[in-house]
Amino acid sequence: MSKIAAWFEERLGISAVVRFGAQKQVPLHKHTIWSYTGSAILVFFGIQVATGILLAFYYRPTLEAANASLERIMTEISFGWIVRSIHSWSATFMIITVFVHLVSVALTKAYRKPRELTWMTGALLLAVSLFFGFTGYLLPWDELSLAATKVGTDIPKAVPVVGEWATKFLRGGDDVTGDTLSRFFILHVTVLPLVLLLLLAVHVYLIQKLGMSLPLESEIRGEKAPGMSFWPNFVAREAAVWLVLLGLLITVAVLFAPSLGPPADLMAPAPEGVKPEWYFLFLFQTLKLFPAKVGFVSGETIAVLLIGLGALALFLLPLIDNRPETRKGKIVAAAFLAFLAYALGMSVWSLL
Ligand code: HEM
Repeated sequence: MSKIAAWFEERLGISAVVRFGAQKQVPLHKHTIWSYTGSAILVFFGIQVATGILLAFYYRPTLEAANASLERIMTEISFGWIVRSIHSWSATFMIITVFVHLVSVALTKAYRKPRELTWMTGALLLAVSLFFGFTGYLLPWDELSLAATKVGTDIPKAVPVVGEWATKFLRGGDDVTGDTLSRFFILHVTVLPLVLLLLLAVHVYLIQKLGMSLPLESEIRGEKAPGMSFWPNFVAREAAVWLVLLGLLITVAVLFAPSLGPPADLMAPAPEGVKPEWYFLFLFQTLKLFPAKVGFVSGETIAVLLIGLGALALFLLPLIDNRPETRKGKIVAAAFLAFLAYALGMSVWSLL
């Protein structure tokens, strides 16, 4: 065994990586717990890739076969139902963890100088994660997924000048058809994973280069936090969190497997009470609040432009809040909390 290990060591130099991990320090303080959130997202993404590949062995992205192939996965293929259920629940868990990670780095102001680009690549990762959810929602090709995608892809139309083109581009034509299904499938299984991996590489490179942030209060006081070695101490603690999350994921996936509606009919009228996935509910409710016309301008155009402005502000947050230790920093934190309360309130309202 030791000869085999030495053969690999000579070629791969793994011991240098282990030594590097042992020297790398993770700062220990009362907010260290939030540093587990990033790697938890990675675990869920890994599960998405593994279960997604298994589903793709049997899934057929065509108008005639999509719904039936998923029905077959759930009823005829060994363990198909649990693989589908884990894929669906792990997507939800991944998005929840991305939100928790975002809120934790926002409230600890970990985006402050020099971590502005870490935040910005993170914000793009959020957009990609949401787009993963949006494209995946259509793939079962049932009544609900068709209706929700029609509503969702209609929204860009409200943007002046490029809106019509964006909707057409997303749908692959004027309406949601079989072309939209194959377009969404390709985005979901090739384009988005590649974009996510690329962004992730930059995100993780920056975290490695800059090290983990200290709490703002300690930095202002010029304190030095005690550290814990990344390998094996921090990784062992992270692994304990992963195991708990995995247990939770398997439990809900077994108990609450997602259902599958009858195949979508392009000619049928939209069913009552169409709602998007939970993470789009607050946007959906915001759009409903605006009247048809505000003066000469369509209410939807104003709402979409305001939402776009909000997303841009989130992306540029480290540049807006460039002096987090000042009064301006406190106002930004209060505005962020107000936005969270708004998003939560709107989501609950849209469910009532
Ligand atoms: C697919 C999504 C994402 C993955 C896999 C990911 C992964 C990670 C990992 C592994 C870390 C280091 C450990 C930690 O702090 O948890 C980290 C740190 C960080 N992430 Fe993310 N992240 C994602 C999304 C985001 C989002 C949406 C934001 C914010 C918009 C963000 C901003 C940051 C920042 C600022 C840090 C540095 C924290 C510090 O130094 O204390 N990330 N991320």
